[in-house]
Amino acid sequence: MKLFVSEGNPHCLKVLAALGVTGVQCDVQYVNHEERVVPFLSRPTLPALLLPSGLHLFSSNAICRYLFEVSGKDSSERCNQWLEWEATDLQPALLQALHMAVLQGKGSEVSKVLQGPLNYLDQSLSKGNTPYLTGEAVSVADVVLWAALYPILSDSSLALGECKSVKTWFDRGAAVMCSFQAAAQKVLQGKGLQGMKSYMQRQPAPQSSQCRDTQSCNSNPAEGEEGERVVSEEEMEAAAVTFSKGLNACPLATNRQHPILPQEGKRNLLVTSALPYVNNVPHLGNIIGCVLSADVFSRYGRLRGWNMLFVCGTDEYGTATENKAREEGLTPQQICDKYHAIHSSIYKWFQIDFDFFGRTTTEKQTEIAQNIFWRLHKHDFLVEDTVEQLRCESCQRFLADRFVEGTCPHCSYPEARGDQCDKCGRLINAVELREPQCKVCRQTPVIRSSKHLFLDLPKLEAQLEQWLDKSTSTGDWTANAKQITRSWLRDGLKPRCITRDLKWGTPVPHPDFKEKVFYVWFDAPIGYLSITANYTDKWEKWWKNPHQVELYNFMAKDNVPFHSVVFPCSLLGAQDNYTLVNHLVATEYLNYEDTKFSKSRGVGVFGDMAKDTGIPSDVWRFYLLYVRPEGQDSAFSWADMATKNNSELLNNLGNFINRAGMFVTKFFEGCVPAIELQQEDKKLLALVGWELQQYIQLMDKVKIRDALKHILNISRHGNQYIQVNEPWKKIKGGDTERQRAGTVTGLSVNIACLLSVMLFPYMPTVSQTIRDQLNAPQSCINAMLQGTGTFVCALSAGHRVGTVSPLFQKLEVDQIEALKKKFGGQQPEDEPPKKKKTAQTAASTQPAAVPAPLAEVAMVNGVDPEKAKQLTLAVTEQGEKVRALKAQKAEKAVITAEVTKLLDLKKQLALAEGKSPEPAPQKGKKK
Ligand code: 2FM
Ligand code: ZN
Repeated sequence: MKLFVSEGNPHCLKVLAALGVTGVQCDVQYVNHEERVVPFLSRPTLPALLLPSGLHLFSSNAICRYLFEVSGKDSSERCNQWLEWEATDLQPALLQALHMAVLQGKGSEVSKVLQGPLNYLDQSLSKGNTPYLTGEAVSVADVVLWAALYPILSDSSLALGECKSVKTWFDRGAAVMCSFQAAAQKVLQGKGLQGMKSYMQRQPAPQSSQCRDTQSCNSNPAEGEEGERVVSEEEMEAAAVTFSKGLNACPLATNRQHPILPQEGKRNLLVTSALPYVNNVPHLGNIIGCVLSADVFSRYGRLRGWNMLFVCGTDEYGTATENKAREEGLTPQQICDKYHAIHSSIYKWFQIDFDFFGRTTTEKQTEIAQNIFWRLHKHDFLVEDTVEQLRCESCQRFLADRFVEGTCPHCSYPEARGDQCDKCGRLINAVELREPQCKVCRQTPVIRSSKHLFLDLPKLEAQLEQWLDKSTSTGDWTANAKQITRSWLRDGLKPRCITRDLKWGTPVPHPDFKEKVFYVWFDAPIGYLSITANYTDKWEKWWKNPHQVELYNFMAKDNVPFHSVVFPCSLLGAQDNYTLVNHLVATEYLNYEDTKFSKSRGVGVFGDMAKDTGIPSDVWRFYLLYVRPEGQDSAFSWADMATKNNSELLNNLGNFINRAGMFVTKFFEGCVPAIELQQEDKKLLALVGWELQQYIQLMDKVKIRDALKHILNISRHGNQYIQVNEPWKKIKGGDTERQRAGTVTGLSVNIACLLSVMLFPYMPTVSQTIRDQLNAPQSCINAMLQGTGTFVCALSAGHRVGTVSPLFQKLEVDQIEALKKKFGGQQPEDEPPKKKKTAQTAASTQPAAVPAPLAEVAMVNGVDPEKAKQLTLAVTEQGEKVRALKAQKAEKAVITAEVTKLLDLKKQLALAEGKSPEPAPQKGKKK
């Protein structure tokens, strides 16, 4: 056994401590941070433990647990829970605390981020009433937590609040502390927290939990109160050397050749996006949740040189399709054809670059689903049971819960649904409804017993858990995916019905169930396999090849249990060496303004409408990815979209790229000038290189929204650099000055080229346009995203650029207001107060009357809601502008002029809102 560790890495402290405590025999080898110890991982991951079997463990907690197991101490369920807490709750806070203490010199403030987890630990210890975390003896949980907290708790200079039980427990560890001290001595080299500095500098800047809101979060260390990132001399020199190497050694980008199949010696990634239902038009929330996120990751993976296959398709079977067909007077097949085409064209407009976009109503689907069914049957994982259901004889069908209505058996509410009563809120079993009615024909349905087949989840549970342990600890599962899965398992699994009394579905092949079809949630995920089978006959090379293939499933969080529990159980039970999900990536929900998307109320932007707005597809992509509900729900807002377009795309990114290109055109006749690097340029190279590394680390972990911020940081650095160096002035000076203008221009235009590459996954058209304008060589695409990310000079002296022109257009206030109105449905806040009153008195469930013209209600007491809205937008925008100017350290006079405009706008806004405007601050007096 061999343990690989590196200096300054706090995770290594944990494993060395565990090694010391357990006394397991093992070689320890120190390597540098960037060393790729585990050959198949794209990024260096330390610590790593090479097992006698040749396999690697590379999560520090898994290594610690393993060392304990080898020494004969198995970890209990409670132990595992503590390890989970350490990894998901404590670590993020610790990382942030270390970042503050080590890099920002804010040791006095670490309690802000650590107090929460420490209090939790303190309470658990005092409640638990045992000397150690899980009982009377030291367990792996104690060792991991002691070691994790050791650097912080043993540094007396950090002001941490009183946590008595934690202190007692920590001191109790003194008996084994010699192992910690020895480990700490090795890892931190006797430098205490400062021993982590070089490690911490390589980590993505942690996002504070209070700073998750996109509107207020300032993730750019160069911009805000966090102060500028410190760059060491070595970093600057290294960045300069890398940059000067140029493109030469880089492999050429290769074109995709279909069919794409796994290749020996490559990282083979199979990417799926949840298959959208075919019975409706997807809205923006659906799009960001699956296809767009999966597309960004697939595009990125291709740039990284991974061998990627990205498949998706429409989910076409089930009641929902049958009902839609009834509603539209078409056959289910016609509905599927119609909506499949609608989905395809929407995704095409959004530039979703599937390798194959199929559908579930195919022969392959029947073949594969029935095969899985028979294998489950053969291995005895299916059980039979009788179910009572309502059947409408006049419609000749069994009624899904949503299609019956009746009197609630609990509160007698006459319009209770088949699954729940809207009045008393109780859950209802449809057969219990009094006076039930078929919602379609209003006839009274009858109760019928029907035999169904159930997937025996309890029987598969142990196998599932074993697989889940491995998959979630080695793969990149989002926190919500892990948590939802855990909560499903907590209460124990129950058998799940996989058959339905419907016509529109994959037929159940068993002779006793001839009239039935598979339940959509049994059928749909099999669609991933059948769609791949329609793409290539060699589909099994992807789907029955878990050792060579890594599977990424993208979805919104409501799809999680089917992908983490039910479908894996189907595949495990079928016992056919199927590829199971390695990385389950689930988004939270995207709201629309401050409400939910609703087709029936006409609220929200749906996929087919986006193109009618005149806003380019790339800008839609950008904004959706900027607010991607990553880690928490977020909202689409028109005003915010305009602000982000105008500030981030136009003023920041577009402005920088355009200026860089224009300098080459205007001052150097279209040829990139010679670059003579000075210290300041090297510092910029190091800063840009660092942002690039953060981008790669985050993208590798599918943190798509977080990674985007690092692209914008680079152009911010670039703008600031141009602003400080003023090449437009220097070009008019003597030789030295002109040469300086050349270097600044040359470096800037190369950064623009790097940005085009980093942007490719997010804004493919803009990315291509930039490269066309710069006439950039094709090979630059792959070159920059190799390994940990290398910013190289791709446009060397003498390179001729193409025609440079602006990339983005301003979104105007009235344009946005008009769009908001058009797509806003009848949102409450849009309704004039008068109408709300009438709506209250009218005891009608009909849609409210047409709203009174706005002019009628406007200007009451000088209040002008319409104008206020426009002004709010203008204030936000102007605020952004002022912030940007300050960050760029623009001239004082310029800033003052813009601040004056801002104050004036605020005054106007206050008036429009009917408030008295705040007096403008008097000159020379501070409040
Ligand atoms: O929620 C949905 O839109 C489902 N049609 C997703 C199915 S994902 C997969 F299992 F096919
Ligand atoms: Zn009926």
